[in-house]
Amino acid sequence: MSNKDQKIKKAIQYYQGNYQNLHKEFLNFLKIPSVSTAEDHQDDIQKAADFLVKKLSILGFDKAAQHPTPKHPIVYGEYIVDSNMPTVLIYGHYDVQPPDPLNDWHTPPFEPAERGEYLFARGASDMKGQIWATISALEAIITAGQPGMNIKLLFEGEEEIGSPSLDAFLESHKALLQSDFVLNPDAGMIAPDKPTIVYGLRGLAYFELRIFGPKADLHSGIFGGVVANPANVLCKLIAGMHDENGKVTLPGFYDYVRDLTENEREELSRIGLDDNFYKEMSGVSALHGELGYTPVERACARPTLDVNGFYAGYIEKGAKTIIPAFATAKISTRLVPNQDPILVHEGMKSYLEANVPDTVTWELEYMSGAPAYINAEETPGLELFIEALKETWHMQPLMKREGGSIPVATSMKEILGVDSIITGFGLPGDQIHSPNERLHLPTHRKGVEALIRFFA
Ligand code: BES
Ligand code: MN
Repeated sequence: MSNKDQKIKKAIQYYQGNYQNLHKEFLNFLKIPSVSTAEDHQDDIQKAADFLVKKLSILGFDKAAQHPTPKHPIVYGEYIVDSNMPTVLIYGHYDVQPPDPLNDWHTPPFEPAERGEYLFARGASDMKGQIWATISALEAIITAGQPGMNIKLLFEGEEEIGSPSLDAFLESHKALLQSDFVLNPDAGMIAPDKPTIVYGLRGLAYFELRIFGPKADLHSGIFGGVVANPANVLCKLIAGMHDENGKVTLPGFYDYVRDLTENEREELSRIGLDDNFYKEMSGVSALHGELGYTPVERACARPTLDVNGFYAGYIEKGAKTIIPAFATAKISTRLVPNQDPILVHEGMKSYLEANVPDTVTWELEYMSGAPAYINAEETPGLELFIEALKETWHMQPLMKREGGSIPVATSMKEILGVDSIITGFGLPGDQIHSPNERLHLPTHRKGVEALIRFFA
C-alpha cells in the first residue's frame, strides 16, 4: 500500500471512529440561527463565526481569526504544510436563509432532528453541512498525517444576502489568499449515486420595484375607477415582462446571451434531468418556460425573470375594500454567460420608463447583482477531485451547469485570478431555502470520504 493509500485508510478510520463526536459538534453548529438578512440575528452570526474560529484553532490552523467587515465577519485560517506544495482556497458561508414560513416546519428549524437517513435543520444542506464535511475531512487527514496540499479556509457570513463585503475583502487580502485553485462546495449532486461537478452557474440581478399611488389607502368604492390601483399597475407591469413565448421583454435582455452550443445541449440532455424530474421535485403537474428549450436547458443555461415576493394592500385574513397606497415586488433575473447585471438593470429601467403609466410614481432599487460563471477546463486540482469522487462512488462524476448562483466564484476569478471547483454533497430534494431543509446523511458521509481522498 502506498503512503497516500495508508494515509487515506487511516483518515477514513479516524472519521468513522469519531463520527459521533463530529456529528454532535455539527448539531451545535446547526443550532446557531445565523440568518444573515435579519437585523435581530447579529449575535447569532457572531456566535457562528466564533464557533468556526474556535474549531480551526483546535485543528491547528494558523491565523485562525475573524476579519470584521461593514456587516458580518469573515473567518479565515490556514494550514500550510510546505510552501512548495499547491494551495487550495476553500470557500464556505456560515450564514443561512431565514427559516420562514415557520409553521411549515415539522420540527423547529434550529433544533436539528434526524428522521430516517435525513437530518432536518435550516442550513443542514446549504451550507453548514458542506462546511462540516470539509472540516471533518480536514480533521481526519490532519490526524492521519499531513494533507497533500496547503489549505486556506475562508468562510463568509453574507452569501445569502449577495456577499456585499466579500469583494473588498478579496481586494485587500490578495497576498493572504494567494492560491492555485478554489474548492467551493456550495453546489450539490444530482442524485445520491451521481457525484457532480458544476462547471457553470447562473448570475443574478435582483430588484425591488415600488409603485406609489394615492397618499393613503382609499375606500375602493368611493375612489375605485378614478384612482389607479398600484397593485393592478404592478401586476400589469410584471405580466408585461414576459411575452407569449416565455421570453423576457426587458430591452436588451438577450443582447449578450451566449447561446448554447449543440455540444452543450447534448451534454445537458445526457445528465438525465427530464420533465419528470422537475415535476417530481417541485410538485407541479405541468412545466412551463421559454419556447424552444428543454426544461434542463431553461433551468441551467437560459436566463429567467421571476417575482420572489409581492406585497400590496390588505394581506391579513378576511376582506377589506381598499385601493392600496402602494405595491411592491421583489424581482430577480438569473443570468447566463456574457450577460452583464448592470445592463440588465439598465434594461429594467428602460422598460419601466416606457411602461409605467403617469397615474402612479415608481422607484426601482437594484439590490444585488453578479455575472454568471463558467470555469476553465484546465482548472488545477480538477483532475484530482474527479479522481477522489470516482474512487468513492465508483463512477465517473457528471459535469453539469447549474441554475443557482454562487457570485463568489466570479469574484475569486476576477479578483484573485483563480478558478473554482464547484461541487457539494447536497441533493435536489434537500429543500434548501424552503421549510424542512434536510441533509441526506449517507451522502454527506460519502462526501467526507471523497474530500479525505482529495486532501490526501
Ligand atoms: N448554495 C446556493 C446556490 C446553489 C443552489 C448552487 C443550488 C447550486 C445548487 C447558494 O447559497 C444560494 O442560494 N445562492 C443565492 C445567491 C444569491 C443570494 C446572490 C441564489 O442562488 O439564490
Ligand atoms: Mn449556499
